[in-house]
Amino acid sequence: MQVFRSALLRFAEDGQAVYDEDGLLAVAPDAQGRQRVVAAGPWQALAAQWAGQGAVTHWPGRILAPGFVDLHVHFPQTDVIGSPADGLLPWLENYTFPHESRFCAPEYADGVAAFFVDELLRNGVTTALAFATSHPTSVNALFGEAQRRCLRLVTGKVLQDRHSPDGVRDQTEQSLIDTEALIQRWHGVDRLGYAITPRFAPTSTPEQLRGAGELAARYGDVWIQSHVAENLDEIRWARELFPRSRSYLAVYDDFGLMRERAVYAHCIHFDDADHALMRERRTAAAISPTSNLFLGSGFFDYAGADRAGFRYGLASDVGGGTSFSPFHTMLAAYYVGRTAVEGLQTKPGLSLSPAQLWWQHTAGAAQAMGLAGVVGNLQPGCEADFLVLNPQATPLLARKTQQAQSLDELLFALIVLGDDRVIEQTVISQAKYAPSA
Ligand code: GUN
Ligand code: FE
Repeated sequence: MQVFRSALLRFAEDGQAVYDEDGLLAVAPDAQGRQRVVAAGPWQALAAQWAGQGAVTHWPGRILAPGFVDLHVHFPQTDVIGSPADGLLPWLENYTFPHESRFCAPEYADGVAAFFVDELLRNGVTTALAFATSHPTSVNALFGEAQRRCLRLVTGKVLQDRHSPDGVRDQTEQSLIDTEALIQRWHGVDRLGYAITPRFAPTSTPEQLRGAGELAARYGDVWIQSHVAENLDEIRWARELFPRSRSYLAVYDDFGLMRERAVYAHCIHFDDADHALMRERRTAAAISPTSNLFLGSGFFDYAGADRAGFRYGLASDVGGGTSFSPFHTMLAAYYVGRTAVEGLQTKPGLSLSPAQLWWQHTAGAAQAMGLAGVVGNLQPGCEADFLVLNPQATPLLARKTQQAQSLDELLFALIVLGDDRVIEQTVISQAKYAPSA
């Protein structure tokens, strides 16, 4: 048993942020040796029961918070960040596909995987739903590295058997054989999970999508991830290729690729029927605001999503996204929320609260992945992935957080001014990680 005394941020069942200025967090290993939260709350109320049960580590002036969950990120695009293009499709063609073709080489994939996992942990991300490339080597590289570092990570081999250049295009039948073999090798091993990963409908034949849907039905607790309704040219293309489906989103439904544990990146240009379909299928959206702003894709409609009542969470979408830092993503989500859009599609401007933004990158994102109560929070039973935050990491942060009169003001100061410097330590459930430098 280990007991920590510090300010403590966590979330109630209903998503409300709970903050104990003087908090207690107790963690103990379960039967598998995985550290789990056994108590979290005000020191005053819990110390009598827990403080005597283990060594107490005191972190004055720091905040303990749940590790962040990145709901959509491309590990092979670590070096694609900041590649300018006239929107999504030219960006894929000119930068992303040529770069991803390099991941057939195991040493290259291993090297990027090690850097990528370092970068996640340095930024306080302790759970990620990640794309690999179409090469099984890239999947093995990332799973291997995540396993070594005890990271909770879900990834999968990208399926793209058409409209893709040599070097990344795969073969329909072999791609499905490879997917099943990777599921059997990795899914459920330690903290790893597999995601069936069609890149997006335009780069898969109907046969490949059908095969993916069959695997999704056969392996019901495996995840599904893809992209949808990010960009207007992409939508036109998908509609041309699948004219019989009611909408771009419906293509995935028609192939059995919408269900619990399915997470679709972007979900921007949706109509009411798409919103309703997301709810009915218990499918989640990965909102990627830095990517959507960088590529000029559009603005996620929070009010529309809440009206329909489907699940969502925040994601970096590196390398369309511009940062691994959850603080940068939360701030960009605030900008996206504020932006009113008028025209064919309309959305109101609204002010997301700092606690909502934080929830979307922790407990909310975990819920979207079907991992509520497992990660993304510091409630009893959760795996003990947590962060030691330094609210005085920079002079301006120290000045601003000292003046905070409320939890909202404190969290907003961190969201607006924070970055990797705020993450003093990332503690993961089975091992302690501290940056070497
Ligand atoms: N749509 C298909 N592939 C991609 C990708 O790699 N990034 C983004 N942002 N959108 C995509
Ligand atoms: Fe993406």
